[in-house]
Amino acid sequence: MLFDLNPKRRREDLFDFDEELAKLLRLIQERERLIVISGFKRTGKTSLVLTSLHSADIPYVYMNGEIFATKKSISKREFAKMFEDSANDLILNRGKWHDKLEEFLSGLSGISIEKRNGVPFIKFDPKWSTPILICCIVEKFGELAEEVEGKPFVWVFDEAQEFRKLRGYSLKGIFAHLYDHDRNVVLIFIGSQKGFLYRFLGLNNPSSPLFPRPRVEIETRKLTPKESLEFLRKGFDQLGWMPDEEILKEVVEKTGGFIGWLTYVGCKAKQYGRLDKEVFKKILDEAVKQASRELEII
Ligand SMILES: Nc1ncnc2c1ncn2[C@@H]1O[C@H](COP(=O)(O)OP(=O)(O)OP(=O)(O)O)[C@@H](O)[C@H]1O
Ligand SMILES: [Mg+2]
Repeated sequence: MLFDLNPKRRREDLFDFDEELAKLLRLIQERERLIVISGFKRTGKTSLVLTSLHSADIPYVYMNGEIFATKKSISKREFAKMFEDSANDLILNRGKWHDKLEEFLSGLSGISIEKRNGVPFIKFDPKWSTPILICCIVEKFGELAEEVEGKPFVWVFDEAQEFRKLRGYSLKGIFAHLYDHDRNVVLIFIGSQKGFLYRFLGLNNPSSPLFPRPRVEIETRKLTPKESLEFLRKGFDQLGWMPDEEILKEVVEKTGGFIGWLTYVGCKAKQYGRLDKEVFKKILDEAVKQASRELEII
């Protein structure tokens, strides 16, 4: 469903972006070590990454910094909890890993395995929940993914610049270590605030551990007016009804090629059950409020 507001995960729900999707998938499968996904807000960065990973069933841990956008700092415990939850989501869906997980993680202090309904979930000892322990687990996940599935393991940081707020710890050394020593771990950093993202990773800073290492960047783009119109037609076709051509053209003009805003209009029109000038005006008012809330957070 094109007009679903959540980031897309299924190929059939992702409009266009064939080239970017194929490129990202190729980079992941070739074990490119450091991939940056940048682009304006609402241009489909998260959807591109999640759809790539799901379409090839690549094991990954996803950490979303957006949750910390209004916070001044992130504690090590919060960081570890986010990792633990996301790693357990991965384990739950990775039946092939279950028999081997305990053996792979057995040498690590500060972590235990708790079986629930036969699934071996990981649990951190709060005293030990350090980024270094997390790095060791990521290394083990990389080895497991290779041995059990012959696939890379991907660690994704969405709105990655937010993780600069991790209190008393810089993650750059860990990223550099994974880059140099773990051939099967791919790091993906997604960010709409490119300046903060580059500063966080130290990509322009010669004294930063990551600086000399090559990386690849994919930038998401705005849709052309022709593509925007096609997106709307396809979306409304899925709903089984079609607004007037004139109003569709107005939506294309006002949304400026941002696929996220096109999706928003489509989703709201679905809720209203129609899309005419009056409804579009209401939707625009709501969109402006939504956008200014987001700007306040930034
Ligand atoms: N290629 C696509 N096909 C269909 N819908 C899409 C596509 N890309 C993005 N969307 C939709 O647009 C909205 C924004 O997408 P997404 O969250 O992936 O973008 P983003 O660039 O990560 O945004 P943000 O910067 O706000 O995090 C979502 O509602 C998503 O479902
Ligand atoms: Mg996003």
